[in-house]
Amino acid sequence: MTNPDRTTLSADDWDELHFPRPEENDFDRVVESAISRRGFLAGVVAFGSGAAAMGAGLMSSTSAQAAEASRFAFTPIPAQTDGNVHVPEGYEWKMLMRWGDPLFSEADGYDLTDGGSVENSDKVFGENTDGMETFSFQGHELIAINHEYPNRKINLPAAQEGVPASADDVLKFQNIQGVTVMEIKEGPDGWSVVMDSPFNRRIHHNTPMKIVGPAAGHDLMKTKDDPTGTASLGTMNNCGSGKTPWGTYLTCEENFNGYFGSSDENASYEPKVADGMKRYGIKDESWNGYELFDPRFDTSKNPNEPHRAGWIVEIDPTKPDSTPVKHTGLGRFKHENAEVTLATDGRVVVYMGDDERGEYLYKFVSNAAYAPGVDTENLLNDGTLYVAKFNDDMSGEWLPLTPETTGMDAAEILIFTRMAASAAGGTTMDRPEWVASSPVAVEAYCCLTNNKNRGVKPNAGGDDTSPNAPNPREANKYGQIVRWRPADEDHAATGFDWDLYVMAGNPTVHTDDRAGSANVNEGNLFNSPDGMAIDSTGLVWIQTDGNDDNEEDFAGNGNNQMLVGDPVTGEIVRFMTGPNGCEVTGLAWSTDLRTMFVGIQHPGGNWPDGGTPRSSVIAIKRSDNGLVG
Ligand code: FEO
Ligand code: CA
Ligand code: CA
Repeated sequence: MTNPDRTTLSADDWDELHFPRPEENDFDRVVESAISRRGFLAGVVAFGSGAAAMGAGLMSSTSAQAAEASRFAFTPIPAQTDGNVHVPEGYEWKMLMRWGDPLFSEADGYDLTDGGSVENSDKVFGENTDGMETFSFQGHELIAINHEYPNRKINLPAAQEGVPASADDVLKFQNIQGVTVMEIKEGPDGWSVVMDSPFNRRIHHNTPMKIVGPAAGHDLMKTKDDPTGTASLGTMNNCGSGKTPWGTYLTCEENFNGYFGSSDENASYEPKVADGMKRYGIKDESWNGYELFDPRFDTSKNPNEPHRAGWIVEIDPTKPDSTPVKHTGLGRFKHENAEVTLATDGRVVVYMGDDERGEYLYKFVSNAAYAPGVDTENLLNDGTLYVAKFNDDMSGEWLPLTPETTGMDAAEILIFTRMAASAAGGTTMDRPEWVASSPVAVEAYCCLTNNKNRGVKPNAGGDDTSPNAPNPREANKYGQIVRWRPADEDHAATGFDWDLYVMAGNPTVHTDDRAGSANVNEGNLFNSPDGMAIDSTGLVWIQTDGNDDNEEDFAGNGNNQMLVGDPVTGEIVRFMTGPNGCEVTGLAWSTDLRTMFVGIQHPGGNWPDGGTPRSSVIAIKRSDNGLVG
């Protein structure tokens, strides 16, 4: 088994480095017409009215006016390259929780020098913190939060150099990933976790789950251990998050493919199963040796087990004994997050990105409406799944994934959603990461983080990924944020208008389309937008997971960071920088909106406490205890 340093690469890059896809020699399409920075933005649909009607790029040409009217309550900070967290003057940050910190007093003594014992590993805060949501319940403040993947060299004894050598090693990995639910409280010294709270809970790779919705019970969902196809174990590679209007947590299974392998390299599979493995990137060798010690992850023995991952899972943080629910109605792909909003008639709308190069953006619309007190059990399964199609004229449409549009049956559309989206004719995107919808305007945004394959080779389904209007740059290094406004100001509408809120780039290095849109400048350089949330005032918070070497194409970007954008003027400013090596991911506000909780994933060096680097959640407040969202 290889021994990669997973701490410095995104999951996608790590996967590609160690398990490269075959080059597509028959695909050498080169884009003839690069879209100029100014020319592209001039064509952007202008949202809003009056002065606000100008697109982001045009608006920034009146930067003096924009500065006067700035809605930001702080002085933006410069890029940083050091090993610390920085926030603006007038703000402060404190540690809330680090990987390995106990949730229960019985886990005291957790020793990070050897990655911790397997016995303690399901009683502590998990590794690689990611999406999170806060909940207020009967006077208790709760956070539900994801733990995306392990950092092998850190999580196993140094002598093993990160190579799992036993079932216990694999069990430790399985335990430190998944989800934590924990109660927090604010005291004179800031926020802390309530040790032994009855709400504290770890959900991991062996936690029993229900499978519900149209694909539950389908033959492709059945295994030897679960002949009903309705009960699986564990949730994995939990990336972004979501929150329902009825107060439950949604955790999103992203790079689930990396957990499966085969002990028999000559294993043969049913054609549909084999096609699914190819499209979803399931290989003979898993990332962390699961198949060597846990037969559930051995596809030669359990070819359907991968079909039971790649879903969105609903967890009730207020009921520690509740069984998490996998909702097949929301489709199976590499789910980034789940942005839930309501249509004008109360139907539930869930926006979802599939984070892989050249995959798609989706939305689900429920058949029934939500209202306080209604039965919510079927809301996330009884409805229609759509894939986004963006037109060059800045219009777009949501294409329903149905037997008629895909040639697939209803259950297979959900199990092999990527194939359904290809068949329906969605627009291939530059790695859709988080979607955020505005609470003050009927519009939504999606981070398209980067895509080195744009215009270079097709996606794993063979779909053409030539540059297109919302993904205009070949071999896109920097990423962009697309935004759309649904027709009739209704998120259930099938039509929309769209524009690019920002194209990240580097105008200090490039003068072509790599310079980015005009709201990118020397003072706010960033690349690879990923996490995103819109606060109660409508400001757009953007977190990055990109190249932080601060050199060449990325000179002046500094460490990964969090910025905030004005949706009307297009102005974007830097609010926070993370320690070098990290990705900044996960953002939630305390119920009183006086604290922002922010995740620092896979920091480098020895952040935060001088020893083993530890993914952590920090609490950011204004020094005067004012509102921060
Ligand atoms: Fe887990 Fe696409 O980020
Ligand atoms: Ca992400
Ligand atoms: Ca990312």
